[in-house]
Amino acid sequence: MTSVREIFDTMEYGPAPEADAAARDWLERHDARFGHFIGGAWTKPASPFDVSNPATGKVIAHVSQGTKRDVDAAVKAARKALPAWQALGGHGRARYLYALARAVQRNSRLLAVLESMDNGKSIRETRDIDVPLVARHFYHHAGWAQLLDSEFAGHHAVGVVGQIIPWNFPLLMLAWKVAPALAAGCTIVIKPAEFTPLTALLFAELADAAGLPPGVLNVVTGDGDTGAAIVAHDGVDKIAFTGSTEVGRIIRKATAGRGKKLSLELGGKSPFIVFDDADLDSVVEGVVDAIWFNQGQVCCAGSRLLVQEGVSDRLIAKLRARMETLRLGSPLDKAVDMGAIVAPVQLERIRDLVAAGKAEGAEMWQPTWACPQEGCFYPPTLFTNVQPSSTIAQVEIFGPVLVAMTFRTPSEAVALANNTTYGLAASVWSESINLALDVAPKIKAGVVWINSTNLFDAAAGFGGYRESGFGREGGREGMYEYVVPDRASHTDDLAAGRAARAASKGVRGASGTVRPIRRAAELDDPDRAAPLVDRTPKLFVGGKQVRPDSGYSIRVTGADGRVLGEVGEGNRKDIRNAVEAAHAAASGWAKATGHTRAQILYYIAENLSARAAELARRLDALDGGGGAAEVEASVRRLFTYGAWADKYDGQVHPVPLRGVALAMNEPIGVIGIACPEAHPLLGFVSLVAPAICLGNTVVAIPSERAPLAATDFYQVLETSDLPGGVINVVTGVKDTLARTLAEHDDVDAVWYFGSRDGVKSVELTSAGNMKRTWCESERRAWPDAHEGEGREFLRQATQVKNIWIPYGE
Ligand code: NAI
Repeated sequence: MTSVREIFDTMEYGPAPEADAAARDWLERHDARFGHFIGGAWTKPASPFDVSNPATGKVIAHVSQGTKRDVDAAVKAARKALPAWQALGGHGRARYLYALARAVQRNSRLLAVLESMDNGKSIRETRDIDVPLVARHFYHHAGWAQLLDSEFAGHHAVGVVGQIIPWNFPLLMLAWKVAPALAAGCTIVIKPAEFTPLTALLFAELADAAGLPPGVLNVVTGDGDTGAAIVAHDGVDKIAFTGSTEVGRIIRKATAGRGKKLSLELGGKSPFIVFDDADLDSVVEGVVDAIWFNQGQVCCAGSRLLVQEGVSDRLIAKLRARMETLRLGSPLDKAVDMGAIVAPVQLERIRDLVAAGKAEGAEMWQPTWACPQEGCFYPPTLFTNVQPSSTIAQVEIFGPVLVAMTFRTPSEAVALANNTTYGLAASVWSESINLALDVAPKIKAGVVWINSTNLFDAAAGFGGYRESGFGREGGREGMYEYVVPDRASHTDDLAAGRAARAASKGVRGASGTVRPIRRAAELDDPDRAAPLVDRTPKLFVGGKQVRPDSGYSIRVTGADGRVLGEVGEGNRKDIRNAVEAAHAAASGWAKATGHTRAQILYYIAENLSARAAELARRLDALDGGGGAAEVEASVRRLFTYGAWADKYDGQVHPVPLRGVALAMNEPIGVIGIACPEAHPLLGFVSLVAPAICLGNTVVAIPSERAPLAATDFYQVLETSDLPGGVINVVTGVKDTLARTLAEHDDVDAVWYFGSRDGVKSVELTSAGNMKRTWCESERRAWPDAHEGEGREFLRQATQVKNIWIPYGE
């Protein structure tokens, strides 16, 4: 028998297994076979596939592979339930959300155990982190339902939403998606990941018991094919997806031009930056939470350790010592730190990437203890001597594998941190809050944790920059993903310019027939002896007027069919130059204060006003009247965004932590804007002004039909102290140029207002670097203050970064 002295010597943990009887009972009650949960009832199990416990390899249940027909039935049930769910109002829905929060709390241990059995994650995490956060999400969103009418006035629920979730936080991801959708008044078809469907099925049962009306929440199980059927279904108004960037890209393409709202929370390769003044013992515990939490299967895992050179050796030694003490084993053992990897295929992927790391010359280190033989386990792993461009430094491993690199200066740390196509999260460690807060805004990531890591809360938005996706989950930011602004319906945007464009077809100077242009002014004055001095508008790039690379031009006709002039036909090269100019101007313009940007916007308005008569004549010629009113509305709009430039505040989220989460509105970067056909000046100003007012730089393609309004306008810009490159104007064939912008990997967002085909083309080609898009084919009432300006535009022009700042000793 072990003596007390021996126990003191070894300090070994005894086994502390959590009972799984209740979860097994629940499975048995269902005969371990599940259909889908559609319209408030279980379907008959069909086309079953196995669900295994990754810690043991044993099959614990069989669930159904959802077919197109199942998805269709679920969408129909959701559609049927929608009117009554919306008619219930915010308070009515708040009561249900509150009931769901209570149901989660009442069944918290059952949910935690089942989640551990299904996913392989430790009970410590499911019990203490996942399930409490699930309950918190439903409570928090009961609040948003209650406040919906007042806080989201002028918006309505998006409708039936399709939600596709991954296996790493099965129940938590369900809560992140279901709670805001229900609060907003949407009904739901959700598909859990094929590896981990069980807690979603249990949740459906709990929701039913809580009285949630049939059809409001439908759960369809299955693999990627079932997910693809949800994405493809015409009856789904919005898709919310969390998972790999690869599948995110497929979904972006599949939804292109379909008018579905889309939010994507994708992968990451998040930096964990340690400065030499950081508290290294806290850093070590931070790293444990960053990369060994949930076996590293976390989208925002701090998987790239960037350490300032002077403390690197010390930190690596401390880390190795800590890794030796990590406990890995049965997920239901309350004293383990790490459980199992979700499935053999994921284990294989981790092994392959680790092998690639070794082959590329990095040095691998693992603790001396061995993993259990049975089940799907992988030890904590640390790579040093890693090149920033190597596979393991670039590819999301999604396992307990940390790669360490060093840096010398803060700017080198920022450059290394941003040396990734992703932008989900980052962690910054320093005892100097000045340094940490200087670095945080420079990192391209949706969340930055200072002296902390992997903190989540329902009140704070979560989501990525760049190829980590778009849209936010949590807080006010997340609610916007499930509502749309009220708008009167309009005909399509091109109607306004269709006739005029048809008239101008085939008159391009290069088409072979070189015909002299008789401008309207000359036609008005047939006795004129000498022709007017030729004035050919050029492109406007980097603050200069430049000739188009093509050497071609396009004729512009007025409302009466007469030729008013010619503009350059921009091409791919012109767009490239314009994007380069916009990039060169971007960091200076983003750093300019709101006050400075406001002054410039007012000054543009002043100069536009000074040339109002001339521009009004131009607009009259282009559109047959209404010019003076359009110029006046444009001046007003410039004032609006001069006003907003220093007023579009972020927020301070009251997260449950001794500290705050600052939600900062940051510019997106370089935005390509294809302007609407109607209102050639006002449409241009209505889009370009909000973009630049918040620090973005712009490549604008003016109305194809009436580009002369924009080419006149850039002369106003030239006299308004606007730094070169902040607004670039490329005239030409709108859809071709917009496609080039959407394909460009250095463009961060594209806004497109034009034809349906154009919308589809932009959304499709944007998938290359997963840039944000804002596309509409319906005409807006641009002069109207509700439709033509305001917060909707400002939201599109920004992305929110949440910076978590703990305080106290
Ligand atoms: P995945 O992206 O394939 O799966 C996520 C969800 O999407 C699952 O529900 C799946 O059934 C569904 N899905 C798959 N193909 C689909 C399609 N064509 N249309 C609609 N839905 C589809 O992720 P997977 O294969 O499970 O993991 C592969 C890698 O993805 C991981 O190694 C990891 O790097 C990454 N990943 C990232 C996650 C994150 O939270 N960022 C979560 C899960 C995986």
